[in-house]
Amino acid sequence: MEKIHDVTRPPLEYVKGVPLIKYFAEAMGPLQSFQARPDDLLISTYPKSGTTWVSEILDMIYQGGDLEKCHRAPIFIRVPFLEFKAPGLPSGMDTLKDTPTPRLLKTHLPLTLLPQTLLDQKVKTIYVARNAKDVAVSYFHFYRMAKVHPDPGTWDSFLEKFMAGDVSYGSWYQHVKEWEELSHTHPILYLFYEDMKENPKREIQKILEFLGRSLPEKTVDYIVEQTSFKEMKKNSMANYSNVPTEVMDHSISNFMRKGIAGDWKNTFTVAQNERFDADYAEKMAGCGLHFRTEL
Ligand code: A3P
Repeated sequence: MEKIHDVTRPPLEYVKGVPLIKYFAEAMGPLQSFQARPDDLLISTYPKSGTTWVSEILDMIYQGGDLEKCHRAPIFIRVPFLEFKAPGLPSGMDTLKDTPTPRLLKTHLPLTLLPQTLLDQKVKTIYVARNAKDVAVSYFHFYRMAKVHPDPGTWDSFLEKFMAGDVSYGSWYQHVKEWEELSHTHPILYLFYEDMKENPKREIQKILEFLGRSLPEKTVDYIVEQTSFKEMKKNSMANYSNVPTEVMDHSISNFMRKGIAGDWKNTFTVAQNERFDADYAEKMAGCGLHFRTEL
C-alpha cells in the first residue's frame, strides 16, 4: 500500500478510452478476479449523483432500520466500492474479502469497464441519476477536496472538461443513457436524485418493492429521517470525515456540501448556462430521459 503523503493529484489515466483517477485505473486489473454473487445488490451511479445517500438507505434497509448496526463501520467499508484504491486505504477488493453476504456493492463504472460477472449473475442494481448541472458543480467541489483527482482548475475550465467527458469516469451523458438502456433488459431500478429529494419515502418504497422486502411504516419513516442530509452530514460513519485529510480535505469543501437540487444556479453564469444547454440538447437528442434541474 502506498503511503498517504504520496497523494499528489496525479493526472487521469485512460482505461479502454475512459479517463479514471490513476489509483482506480490501477485497480481495474485486480478487479478482473471479482466474482459477483446472485444475491449481491449493486449501487451504480455517475459520481456525485447521490451514491452515499442511497448506500446509507440500503444499509439501513438491510439492517432492518437499526441505526446502531449502521454505525458499525464507515460507508465505504459497509458498501465496498469495487474499483476503489487510494494510498493508505484498503482497496475495494480488499474490503470485499471481509464483507458478509448479502453484499451491497458500489460502482461508478461505465458499461465498457463493468465486470461482466455482474451481468452474468443478473445482479440487481439500483442506479441513481442526478441532473447534469448539479453533478458538474458538485464534482468541481469534490475534485477540489478529494486529492486523488487532478487539480480542477477554474470552474469555467472544469465545466468545459465535464461537457467533453474529460473528467474521471468520462461522459455523464453516455453514463446516464447507457445504464437506462441496460435497464430494459436487466434488473435495474433507475432512480433520480431529484425524486429522492422531493419524496424520499416514496422512493424508499420503490426500493423495497424492487428488493422484494417490506418494513413497517414507522421503520421506513425512521430511515427517511436518519438518511436526511441534515442527519447524514453529522453522521461520521456516512460523511467521510474518517478519511485521512491527505485524501479528502473537508476544510476545502465538505463531502456533505449542500445536498439540494438546483444549487447550480449559484455557480453557472448566464453565458455558461446557455452554452451548456445548447451542448446538452445535442448530446441528449432523441433520449427519453427527463431530468429536473430544480424542484
Ligand atoms: P452536493 O455536492 O451538491 O452537496 P455522491 O455520494 O454520489 O458522491 O454524491 C454526493 C452529493 O450527494 C453531494 O451533493 C452531497 O451533499 C449529496 N448528498 C449526500 N447525502 C445526501 C442526503 N442524505 N440527501 C441529499 N443529498 C445528499
